[in-house]
Amino acid sequence: MTKQFSVSPDGTKYPLPTEEDYKREFERVKALVEEARQKGQEIVVVMGLGFVGSVMAAIVADTESKLPSTIHHPPSTINHPPSTSHHPPSTTHDQSPMTYHPSPQYPKFVIGMQRPSTRSYWKIPLLNRGISPVKAEDPEVEPMIRRCVLEKKTLTASFTYDVLTLADVVIVDVQLDYAKKDLGNVRTGHVEMTALEESFDIIAHHIKPDCLVIIETTVAPGTTEQIAYPAMKKVFRQRGITTDPLLAHSYERVMPGREYVASIRDFWRVCSGVNEEAKKRVVKFLNEVINTEKFPLTVLDRPIESETAKVVENSYRATILAFMDEWSKFAEQNGVDIIKVIKAIKMRPTHNNMIFPGPGIGGYCLPKDGGLGIWAYRHILGFENDLFKITPLAIDINDTRALHAAQLVRDALRNMGKPIASAEVLVLGASYREDVGDTRYSGSEILIRRLAEMGAEIRVHDPYVDVWWEFRNQESYPENNRSLFFRNQKKLKDLEVLKDLNTALRDIDALVLAVRHEEYLNLNPEEIIKHAGKPIAVIDCFGILDDEKIKTYLKLGCEVKGLGRGHIRRLKEQVKNSG
Ligand SMILES: NC(=O)c1ccc[n+]([C@@H]2O[C@H](COP(=O)([O-])OP(=O)(O)OC[C@H]3O[C@@H](n4cnc5c(N)ncnc54)[C@H](O)[C@@H]3O)[C@@H](O)[C@H]2O)c1
Repeated sequence: MTKQFSVSPDGTKYPLPTEEDYKREFERVKALVEEARQKGQEIVVVMGLGFVGSVMAAIVADTESKLPSTIHHPPSTINHPPSTSHHPPSTTHDQSPMTYHPSPQYPKFVIGMQRPSTRSYWKIPLLNRGISPVKAEDPEVEPMIRRCVLEKKTLTASFTYDVLTLADVVIVDVQLDYAKKDLGNVRTGHVEMTALEESFDIIAHHIKPDCLVIIETTVAPGTTEQIAYPAMKKVFRQRGITTDPLLAHSYERVMPGREYVASIRDFWRVCSGVNEEAKKRVVKFLNEVINTEKFPLTVLDRPIESETAKVVENSYRATILAFMDEWSKFAEQNGVDIIKVIKAIKMRPTHNNMIFPGPGIGGYCLPKDGGLGIWAYRHILGFENDLFKITPLAIDINDTRALHAAQLVRDALRNMGKPIASAEVLVLGASYREDVGDTRYSGSEILIRRLAEMGAEIRVHDPYVDVWWEFRNQESYPENNRSLFFRNQKKLKDLEVLKDLNTALRDIDALVLAVRHEEYLNLNPEEIIKHAGKPIAVIDCFGILDDEKIKTYLKLGCEVKGLGRGHIRRLKEQVKNSG
């Protein structure tokens, strides 16, 4: 059999483990765990070293014991349960001086468990050298991972499921995808449950009966109680275990970006458990690793409530973004600058979370989370009727908004007498939001796919993205491959993300400001045109250009268009009249 490799973003090839490697690997981790147990550390396995799991694993590994005298018990709704673990309890939750045991300085030993797939195996050797497998703009991430792996020695990564047998707590941070069959119709999609169901099965076959399992993955409401719990219970019974699995749900609100770590550690959490014991244990655990003194926990009665909270939270945000789509188009047609309108409205404190959607809503969560609810209603909870109206509509609007941005590019070029076919278009920004390197479901991807379909020659620049995997691997990712919705996509496989802006600008016909990266907020129009070498079409998708800059571009002979920026026509008249 040919050797298989996993290639890291910097191009290093790591051979996948062989049969013998598994045994050796388990022995390595077992020795580390024995040492940890002697120190009185609790063993935590984080399953899935992705955007959430890598940083969550580091946060847990970075936990330090607090002195009993500094204990502050958060408000009354939160119960601090007695310790149920047979390891020395952490000082944070000692019930009285009688039960107090000195706890280790670092109370948690964390094993980041990642399956050895060709796509993700490289994360393990990287993390074990103290290097973060996720690229983060938050300066806390890299040193935290280095510190935990190399100095505190509280964090290791492994590929074998056998490490689950060593765990006191398992945190599930694997992905759960929602596969869309059509562009702009979330209803025809489905939740890819198989992989998650397999994960529950593997966990149930390996863990100790009293191991706490916390599902952090965003799941379809009902999953914890109606899918995971019965499946795990069945395996427990087959294993002769008479107790019930201790299963809890607590979702992540992580925002990869400058506040990456804080968005996990210093942020409010919601949780619940399938039974009282599971609930007590998850509350205890979160109180130990998350800053619940400043950001109190909300404990809900049942996991379906915690699961629903996550889905509603993100559907709410997707909806307020989608709501602006029609008003943004209204603004374009009627001489209104929607950016100024939003600013004016936001002065009213009750409306200050109004947001401009840019060229579509991406990220891993907002495009799919509502779909999890719609799917669950029918396929887990067993309803036939068509309950959901707003949630799917919002997702569909957001998923197709970038198509309108592509029309603006086409129209701006047309106004300059240049057809979109074979025009050189530079898109500034690949990621789904400002100042991050995450490209999942970004609006820029759909914009580029549409422009390529219309025959444009595409260039892209992004300071945070090295490889745009959605294009590079478009042929090998069967799920959520958005190239399937467009024609003429083949050559996008070779799309390179450019790093030098001045070179990227050379001889372009159109410039699309697609993401509010800091580097793009104050670009000088004269400089841009100097590097482009001629007047160009400028398309502002995110309210980046102020009126002065728009007028400067117009004076330089450029055509300017912008999402929601109907006032540009007026500015054009002013420039014409003044010249
Ligand atoms: N990324 C975010 O901003 C964010 C925010 C809040 C919530 N979430 C939710 O958190 C969950 C994880 O998201 P993510 O962004 O970290 O996903 P991700 O795809 O970056 O990471 C998931 C990791 O799990 C691994 N994995 C999958 N199956 C496995 C298995 N059986 N055993 C071991 N490892 C396995 C994958 O290889 C991958 O490395 C999702 O449900 C997501 O919706 C994500």
